[in-house]
Amino acid sequence: MEITGKTLLFGILADPITQVKTPQQINKLFAQINFDGILVPMHVHAENLEDIIKSLRKLENLGGVIVTVPHKTEVIKYCDYVSDDAKKVGAANIIRRNNDGTLSATILDGEGFISGLIEAGYQLRDKKVYLVGAGGAANAIAFSLLQQGLHSLTLFNRTISKAVDLKNRLLTFYPEAEVNIGTSDVSYYDVVINATILGLRSEDPLPIEPSTLRPNQLVCDIIMHPKETPLLQTAKQKGSKVHYGLPMLDKQLELMLKFWTTTT
Ligand code: ATR
Repeated sequence: MEITGKTLLFGILADPITQVKTPQQINKLFAQINFDGILVPMHVHAENLEDIIKSLRKLENLGGVIVTVPHKTEVIKYCDYVSDDAKKVGAANIIRRNNDGTLSATILDGEGFISGLIEAGYQLRDKKVYLVGAGGAANAIAFSLLQQGLHSLTLFNRTISKAVDLKNRLLTFYPEAEVNIGTSDVSYYDVVINATILGLRSEDPLPIEPSTLRPNQLVCDIIMHPKETPLLQTAKQKGSKVHYGLPMLDKQLELMLKFWTTTT
């Protein structure tokens, strides 16, 4: 598609920036739906984030920006409207510039993950779900799971204090939910979700104790590359169903487009 004076500008704010893949993915999506927009990488150091966000209000042809590492937490301080989801998680990963120049922020990681599962035909509400990880992605997924009405969630993380902190914050918003702190033993659960970064590198250990995986579980990974993480390979060998990392991203891209094109 040709860039003209009418093309709407979008960006991705990150530091470092060179590894991001979203420009290719979003621009492909824009082209597929004939949307006159372009998304470009924007390399911003943490100490300049506030200034940059302030200036975005004044960029008249800006549609919005994606926000990623390390800005997801800080950015909510500088936006005019922050969604309830982003407030609960304490982070945002997308900003829309409204027609009056104000900025609306939300987080779509959790919704992207759940929409991917639903599209694949899985319903988690009544399942015993185990989530390993307590970082940004795990937080977003945990809140979305409880938001969807999940009854029983068990958390585990290398740094247990972070899992306990997540549990306490979840219970503040969802006091009826059953949230437990687990171990690396996953044998008791119907669904196992890896929301750590383990699996990205071939030398990584598994995020859980593999000998405790059993047949007929659903094992999900948020790692996109490689597609078949060692966790998913092991789960398949044990006779479990697996859910890959890519649907979470595909769904998020759709949700991002929807968020940006919602007028206020
Ligand atoms: P993201 O935004 O992708 O979730 P993050 O916030 O840095 O990234 O979180 C990374 C997650 O992977 C955390 O749960 C982290 O565990 P800690 O809280 O103990 O740091 C987990 N993680 C990273 N490296 C790990 C390792 N070598 N072993 C176990 N867990 C690891």
